[in-house]
Amino acid sequence: MRSPRTILGVLATGLLAAGTFVALSPSAEAATTLGAAAAEKGRYFGTAVSLNRLSDSTYSTILNREFNSVTAENEMKIDALEPQQNQFNFTTADRLITRANEIGAKVRGHTLAWHSQQPGWMQSMSGTALRNAMKNHITQVMTHYKGKIDSWDVVNEAFDDGNGGRRDSNLQRTGNDWIEDAFKTARAADPAAKLCYNDYNTDNWSWAKTQGVYNMVKDFKARGVPIDCVGFQSHFNSGSPYPGNYRTTLQNFADLGVDVQITELDIEGSGTTQATTYGNVVKDCLAVTRCNGITVWGIRDTDSWRASGTPLLFDGSGNPKAAYNAVLSAFGGSTSSPSPSNPGSPSPSNPGSPSPSNPGSPSPSQPSGTKSCTATVAVNAWNGGFVATVTVKAGTAALTGWTVGATLPTGAAVSNTWSATASGTSGAVSFTNVGYNGTVAANASTSFGFQGTGNAPSTTTTCTAR
Ligand code: G3I
Repeated sequence: MRSPRTILGVLATGLLAAGTFVALSPSAEAATTLGAAAAEKGRYFGTAVSLNRLSDSTYSTILNREFNSVTAENEMKIDALEPQQNQFNFTTADRLITRANEIGAKVRGHTLAWHSQQPGWMQSMSGTALRNAMKNHITQVMTHYKGKIDSWDVVNEAFDDGNGGRRDSNLQRTGNDWIEDAFKTARAADPAAKLCYNDYNTDNWSWAKTQGVYNMVKDFKARGVPIDCVGFQSHFNSGSPYPGNYRTTLQNFADLGVDVQITELDIEGSGTTQATTYGNVVKDCLAVTRCNGITVWGIRDTDSWRASGTPLLFDGSGNPKAAYNAVLSAFGGSTSSPSPSNPGSPSPSNPGSPSPSNPGSPSPSQPSGTKSCTATVAVNAWNGGFVATVTVKAGTAALTGWTVGATLPTGAAVSNTWSATASGTSGAVSFTNVGYNGTVAANASTSFGFQGTGNAPSTTTTCTAR
């Protein structure tokens, strides 16, 4: 998995509110990022990336820290890669491959054959000329990216929303076999890439469109048409809500002998309701062995194609939302302090609380009721900069606030902080909780992070509890 992050040392010391330092030994902590937590369950956790946002430091910092799979939101579509027939422009999309390599992320390719976002020259084509142009596009693009793409959306959104049949399009009018022709062409171009059919409104098992796609995949498997995976876009809102049979849908497709991937997840809403649905989607994927991973369709709410529905895991300022914590918890990550008897399953409805039957074992040196906390720092450093992810853990009493102190080496400076307020940028810097993460249940954890220039800070920190 992502090499840079996981090889870094994790050390911490804590300062009790009463003023006593407690040294923690390095230990196997639960994962603190989406990608790392998913990887521990054998899954990836990805995001759609808009390449022009990489210059936004908040966006880029979250991308680098949290995700181990990326999909170009628009830059690998047909109009972007082949603006003039047989003249390919890979420059922008190649930057995504570079970034993915830097952060150790897989790449999902999106998308090779689609009725939408066709360049003008393709929109006006038909018949054999269009079929050949489609196949040439697939061959040229997959050859360019051979060995660099984990899964390709070979065909996107080819089914009609209403009746379970095919959507009318210039591609469909070239003949009903255009989809299998696309998959056969794709297999020949890059035999190692997983080949996916990707669509929306295919999440509810009882919907006609779901059945239409299912029957096509079943037919392809029966006839040996090469197909490896089915992508479920899963854009959920009140018109297309998360269905109670979602897990059934994923499992039924997997039972056909294909992998399933959640490819464009966003869930409109807010607060606990949204968080619960996000957690349920993760649990559904984990329940289906062949569910490879989940991609959310953007990073912050403001990056979303449906921004007004606030459907993503980070708010517009880059702070993780309750939905983020629900996803991390569902993967067994360390948002909540796992109870010793049930290390992977914090309660989804109350992710910050220890199990009532196991309220936490007070350490002999920390009498129950005395507020205390520890801060554990994981540092990802490179030549000239670093990202520090800090896990704040409450002792045997609940916190209503916390402040973590860290000392930066000479020449180092904090350039960006998330989920905490920094006082100062160099030397001795303190980080105080923001509104949503000051309250931490006994034995539970929360986290914040900061990015900086220069050498990484010492992993020796203090934590003052309130
Ligand atoms: O960048 C230009 C800007 O320069 C110009 O001023 C502006 C004027 O319209 O357009 C901007 O480009 C827009 C682009 O998003 C970037 O924001 C395009 O018009 C707009 O069409 C494009 O929308 C994308 C949409 O696909 C197109 O079909 C969305 O970003 C993208 O999130 C969305 O993604 C699709 C998946 O590919 C397939 N599944 C559904 C999903 C959501 O619609």
